[in-house]
Amino acid sequence: MTHLKITELTPTFGVEISGFDPKAPLDDATRKQLQDLFDTRKLLIFRDIDLPHPDQTRIGLMLIGKEHEFSLEKLREDNFYISNKRAEAAAPFGRLQFHADTMWAEKPFEVLSLYGVEVEQPAASTTFVNGVDAWNTLPDDLRKRIEGLEVLHTAGAVRRGDMSGVLVTEVDNPPYTITKLGLRHPRTGETVLYACEQMTKEIVGLPHDESEAILKEVFDHLYRPEGQLEHHWREGDYVVWDNIALQHARGPVSLDGPARTLRKAASPMPQLRPDQIPAWKKEAV
Ligand SMILES: [Fe+2]
Repeated sequence: MTHLKITELTPTFGVEISGFDPKAPLDDATRKQLQDLFDTRKLLIFRDIDLPHPDQTRIGLMLIGKEHEFSLEKLREDNFYISNKRAEAAAPFGRLQFHADTMWAEKPFEVLSLYGVEVEQPAASTTFVNGVDAWNTLPDDLRKRIEGLEVLHTAGAVRRGDMSGVLVTEVDNPPYTITKLGLRHPRTGETVLYACEQMTKEIVGLPHDESEAILKEVFDHLYRPEGQLEHHWREGDYVVWDNIALQHARGPVSLDGPARTLRKAASPMPQLRPDQIPAWKKEAV
């Protein structure tokens, strides 16, 4: 068994792991240890490692017990970068509000990771919050009021809160989904406080003002400063997290600022609501 050194980063989530070689064969005991850490701590950080893209994706799938789904074929579709310097990269500038990637899909990405390919300082940090801890620490009266409520998440632009410098993406006919505000995590069975400032449009069935008032209370709790973990990027950082339990946000990035190129890997591919799958895709199945 590989000896891993584990350092907890906050009281409720996040660990930094050293002593792990992503290219070495993985023994069963170490695999189990990493999977258990991923389920309990939800965010793993490895620093100063050399991580080719296939290993980045394969390790992410391994952490959720789906290593058998790894294929080089799928990898080519999934090879992309978050960068202010690289052509055709995603999110090249601006600030990103808290969100979980593809939260608007019926089945969103379960695991998401970023790898520091080129990072000049000072690079904008990525900040995380833990929706499971947020649910568990809700004030009793608020939990009672929101238990059973449903929320609508959309890929369309939701403008709320401090929008200064925020990168807003307009989408025609945006996909959306409806979930419980207290969502049962599909793998761990925990309850996640599942709403975000970037993509959650409304509480289903409530008047707009009432919906916004409840969401404000939810966000005030979810994004409380003491519940946040801020990661400062360096080259060779591999940060992998549970995209259902955690949300992430990033500070401002500019095109002429320090280079910040992060390689992203996300699995498995998200699934849309049946009524939103384009006809050509249905025919192809
Ligand atoms: Fe994201």
